[in-house]
Amino acid sequence: MTAHSDLDPRFDPIINRVGTSCSKWDAMESLYGVSPQDGLAMWVADMDFKPPACVADALVAMHNHGVYGYYGDQTAYKEAICWWMQTRHNWHVDPASIFTTHGLVNGTGLCVDAFTKPGDGVVLMTPVYHAFARVIEAADRRVVECELANTDGHYSLDTAAWDAQLDGSEKMLVFCSPHNPNGRVWSRAELQEVADFAKRHDLILVSDEIHHDLIYPGFTHTPMSALDGISDRLVMMTASTKTFNIAGAHIGNVIIADEGLRARFAKRMGALGLSPNSFGIVMAQAAYSPAGAAWVDDLMVYLDRNRQIFDAGINAIPGLKSSRLEATYLSWVDFADTGMDRDEFTRRVQQDAKIAANHGPTFGKGGESFLRFNIATSRAVIEDAVERMQKAFADLQ
Ligand SMILES: Cc1ncc(COP(=O)(O)O)c(C=O)c1O
Repeated sequence: MTAHSDLDPRFDPIINRVGTSCSKWDAMESLYGVSPQDGLAMWVADMDFKPPACVADALVAMHNHGVYGYYGDQTAYKEAICWWMQTRHNWHVDPASIFTTHGLVNGTGLCVDAFTKPGDGVVLMTPVYHAFARVIEAADRRVVECELANTDGHYSLDTAAWDAQLDGSEKMLVFCSPHNPNGRVWSRAELQEVADFAKRHDLILVSDEIHHDLIYPGFTHTPMSALDGISDRLVMMTASTKTFNIAGAHIGNVIIADEGLRARFAKRMGALGLSPNSFGIVMAQAAYSPAGAAWVDDLMVYLDRNRQIFDAGINAIPGLKSSRLEATYLSWVDFADTGMDRDEFTRRVQQDAKIAANHGPTFGKGGESFLRFNIATSRAVIEDAVERMQKAFADLQ
C-alpha cells in the first residue's frame, strides 16, 4: 500500500475551524499556550470532520421548513436509537427505558444526583475521563480513585487491590467502556469482573459507553447490559455525538432497564425540567440510520490508518510509548522513559512541537507521565504532528 492509497475525500480536507468559537481550536491558546495560527489542536475529543451527509440533510430539511418550535412525539427518534443498538451492538433496548439527557457529562451528573448523597464515595477506575471527577466533586461527593494496572502499556483491572481499598462508604461506580484514555475494549470476562465488583460493594454501576462505535478491527465491544444478573443496579449511557462528531448537539442516551432506578432518574430529570432540544433529536435520529452506519464503517478505516501512522511515528522516538488503541481516537502517550520531568516533556510538546494535547494528570492517578493526543483529524495533520514530535525530541534519537 502506498502512503496515500487510502485517502478519503470525506476525511482528508483540512477544514479551518479557527474563529468558529469551537472549543478545540479557539480555546487552545488560552489553555495550552499554543496558537491556532501555527499549532495543532489534538486535545478535546471531537473530530475535525464533517458528520455524514444524512445529518446535514436533516438539518437542511429542518431549516427549509423554517419553524423551530417545541419537539413533540419522540417515537421515531427512540426507534432509531433501538435500531442502532440492535443492529450495531446486538442489544435489545426497550424504548421506554431511554432518557434523553444533554449529553453524558449531564447524564453522569444526573446519576450522581439521583443515586447518591453528599459525602458518598463514587468509584472511578483511573486514569479515566476527567469530567467524571469534576462532576462528582462539584456535587459534594467524594471521588474514590481505583488505579488500573499498567503493564508495559497494557491496562487491566486490579479488583483485588480495590477490594482492600473500599470502606463501604462508596455508593456508585462510573465505568468507562471502551476506556478513555487508554483505548481498551474490555473483554466479557473483564466486564464480568467489574459487575461482580459492583455487586460485592453494593454499587450502582454506571457504564459510560460513549466510545462504543469507535472500535478497531480485531476487537468487539460488549455492552455491559449483555451480562446476566446486573440489570437491577445498571445504568447504561451511550450517545451519537462521539460517533458522528455532533458533540455540539449535546444529546445523550441514558438507558435504564430497572424500573426502580428508572423512577429515581425520571424524578431528578423532572425536578430539573430537563427535556431534549429539537436540533439534537433531528441530528441523532438521522445519524442512527443505514447511511450513518456506512459512514462509521468508513470512518474507522480512516482512523485505523491514522492510528498506525501516529503510533509508528511516536514509538520510533526512544522513550515515548503510544498505547495500542483498541477503540477511540484518543492516543495515550507515555513519556516516563524519556527521563524528563513533566514540565519538560509538556514544554517540548506545547512550545517546540506546538501541539495542544491533554495533560495526563487531569485523568487521575496513573496519568502523571502521559499526554493524550486526539488523532481524529486529516491524514496530513497526523503526518505533520509526527514530524513535529520527532523534531521536538530529536536529541533522544
Ligand atoms: C467517556 C466519555 N464520556 C462522556 C464524554 C462527553 O460526553 P458529552 O459530550 O455527551 O457530555 C466524553 C467526551 O470525551 C467521554 O470521553
